[in-house]
Amino acid sequence: MMISFTINGEQTTVDVDPDTPLLWVIRDELDLKGTKFGCGKAACGACTIHVDGQAVRACSFAVKFAAGKNITTIEGLGTAENLHPVQQAWIEEIVPQCGYCQPGFMMATAAMLEKIPNPTDEDIDNNIVNVCRCATYYRMRKAIHRAAEIRNSNA
Ligand code: FES
Ligand code: FES
Repeated sequence: MMISFTINGEQTTVDVDPDTPLLWVIRDELDLKGTKFGCGKAACGACTIHVDGQAVRACSFAVKFAAGKNITTIEGLGTAENLHPVQQAWIEEIVPQCGYCQPGFMMATAAMLEKIPNPTDEDIDNNIVNVCRCATYYRMRKAIHRAAEIRNSNA
């Protein structure tokens, strides 16, 4: 089935089984490898992307539901010349260890900041429920607060 959507600002059409998880379309059909596979059952958040600005776990989101939508992956969050505040904060706080979970955390954080520009620790606990096997949670929390600062100073 032909399914069209916008991904990172570009219109695209894929010819796939409509029940294919969007994660596999992104990684295997569109060759965008920044979005990661962790659990495959919406539990870890490694596959988090944005669909019309909402954080979505792409491993558990059939591609048919992406039709006509605006998708953003980690590759589209910012550019080297124009970093997203979350990317800037992640660099400043040197958050990643192995790095595998980080795109998902960054996408979840970026979506949260659109809804909650000044998150408290409790907001972070309630909204950023991804899993990091390297336990970078302490640096992550600092980076989320820093990202909010950067974002608000740019506003
Ligand atoms: S791979 Fe999607 S939530 Fe874990
Ligand atoms: S940095 Fe290794 S899993 Fe999070």
